[in-house]
Amino acid sequence: MDLQEILDRIAADMAATQDRGRVAGYIPELACVDPTQFAIAVATADGQLLSAGDADVPFSIQSISKAFTLALALGRLGDQLWHRVGREPSGNAFNSITQLEREAGIPRNPFINAGALVVTDSLLEARVRSEVLAELLRFLRHAADDDDIHINKRVAASEEATGHRNRALAEFMAAHGNIHNDPAQTCWTYFHQCAVEMSCRQMALAGRFLMGGASGPTMLAPARMQRILALMLTCGHYDASGDFAFHVGLPGKSGVGGGILVIAPGRASIAVWSPGLNANGNSQLGTRAMMQLAAKTGWSVFQ
Ligand code: DON
Repeated sequence: MDLQEILDRIAADMAATQDRGRVAGYIPELACVDPTQFAIAVATADGQLLSAGDADVPFSIQSISKAFTLALALGRLGDQLWHRVGREPSGNAFNSITQLEREAGIPRNPFINAGALVVTDSLLEARVRSEVLAELLRFLRHAADDDDIHINKRVAASEEATGHRNRALAEFMAAHGNIHNDPAQTCWTYFHQCAVEMSCRQMALAGRFLMGGASGPTMLAPARMQRILALMLTCGHYDASGDFAFHVGLPGKSGVGGGILVIAPGRASIAVWSPGLNANGNSQLGTRAMMQLAAKTGWSVFQ
């Protein structure tokens, strides 16, 4: 199997695709991103880094940040975190509020927005917001072995200006005692973590901490890694998680910036990016590219 050839073919196929989905419009800064871009990068367990397309162009990682903050929160709180957030797929959109009302302010999982707000809130315990963001950036830079990873303040401000729904989620959970800090501070920190920018090559390298195997940095106990991967498989694509597991068969975490981080356990960390989204808010071409990569490599965990 020539992995570079597989990536080149996928990139060529994506370049020829007309229907690219629609860029996220609800965060104004993301609406300006050129939808014709596509990139894929693969960091393998034997230490290679291969890529195709616009793999050095930074994109807004958005909800992919939730996988990293979950790792940080589990490191700080351990299993205590699970008193405040569940581990079940939601079957609802990432920003849904209805389930939260029925379930007394305990979000279904750490990857829907409500759950990620709780995770960020837990990181803010006894710390100011700038310390939490500094810890996240340190973690990402160490994982990717690259100091050139930053927060795009314009994107954060853009979401801060329009993030009424997230503020509603945070206030609602505060009413249930499940947000412990000022909800405005928690939202501000969350908007900034979502506004981190990385290229596909940086993201594939950063994802190695979830890959296992010899070449990635050891930043997590294996049991914790397995649990984050289980949540990525069952909840990482929101109400399309079943479909992604069905077609790709690998744990993944998507973001509305059009990126997806996918892990082939023991084999590879994969980042794919194309800004146009499908109806579930996941990258349209990114999902397609991952279907092709999984089919061509046989990397499905069910293989
Ligand atoms: O909270 C939001 O709506 C965004 N900052 C992140 C959402 C997101 O990436 C959902 N992913 N597909």
